[in-house]
Amino acid sequence: MTKIDKYGPWAIVAGASDGTGQAFAEELARHGVNVVMVARRKALLEAVAGQLPVATRVVELDLSDPGAIDALAQATSDLEIGLLIYNAGGDGVNLPLLDRDIAELRGFVRRNCMAVMEACHHFGGLMRSRRRGGVVLVTSGAAWCGGKGLAPYGATKAFDLILAESLWAEWRDDGVDVLALVLGATDTPSLRRSLARLGGQLDGLADPGAVATAAIAHLGDGPTWSYGMPDERGPSPLGALPRREAVELMSAGSAALHAPRE
Ligand SMILES: NC(=O)c1ccc[n+]([C@@H]2O[C@H](COP(=O)([O-])OP(=O)(O)OC[C@H]3O[C@@H](n4cnc5c(N)ncnc54)[C@H](OP(=O)(O)O)[C@@H]3O)[C@@H](O)[C@H]2O)c1
Repeated sequence: MTKIDKYGPWAIVAGASDGTGQAFAEELARHGVNVVMVARRKALLEAVAGQLPVATRVVELDLSDPGAIDALAQATSDLEIGLLIYNAGGDGVNLPLLDRDIAELRGFVRRNCMAVMEACHHFGGLMRSRRRGGVVLVTSGAAWCGGKGLAPYGATKAFDLILAESLWAEWRDDGVDVLALVLGATDTPSLRRSLARLGGQLDGLADPGAVATAAIAHLGDGPTWSYGMPDERGPSPLGALPRREAVELMSAGSAALHAPRE
């Protein structure tokens, strides 16, 4: 189990206004860690922050904007950020690539890849120079291989998975823990909106509070923690399959999740 107060007095949760991000903020507060809460919906952030028994700072930002991480660095320059939890990254659109607008896709990739790398570079760099810190990049089972309807989502989540695993290897001797947190279907407002729009299934979703509790407890068990899997430290569940079969299975799984209920 990781004692998270060793990382420092403040954490950033990028994407903290609802779902797993809100649950992360609440879990950190339970451990006495102060929280910088980032998202676009300021009123929601303020409502969540107002319930937390620790110091908070609300930073209203669109992580799809090219200058977002520079703005976040500036907004937190007076704080020692010991933990970075990059949670924002869901796909509320779930359409094949050519059915999506290219401007929307650019922002999507900026939020899920470029901003994640910039945040790791800035905040992780400061952590490494202090020789203490922790980083959690929230990724997805969609990162294990490609699948129909998952082109930008799965590709960006694979970027986050490989980034986190690589930084774990680069920083492990420097006192900075890094965790790629792989989630399956989780009961967040974003997923619920997406399923409601498509008429998809809602059974068997993971609980965001349980996800946040487990992830914080296992922050030191990197590089990769797959929440809810029989072997949470284990390989890709699709890893033994030929790539074509894996892609076909991923495509069928995505279609089933988003299929209208009978
Ligand atoms: N839910 C699932 O079933 C599931 C499954 C596998 C992996 N995951 C991963 O879990 C993480 C959270 O997913 P989620 O379902 O909660 O959806 P999400 O759409 O990533 O929303 C999570 C948080 O991110 C914020 N956010 C989204 N876009 C933002 C932007 N452009 N700028 C700033 N903040 C932004 C949202 O607040 P605002 O709208 O207020 O900005 C919200 O607080 C993601 O990384 C996702 O890939 C989720």
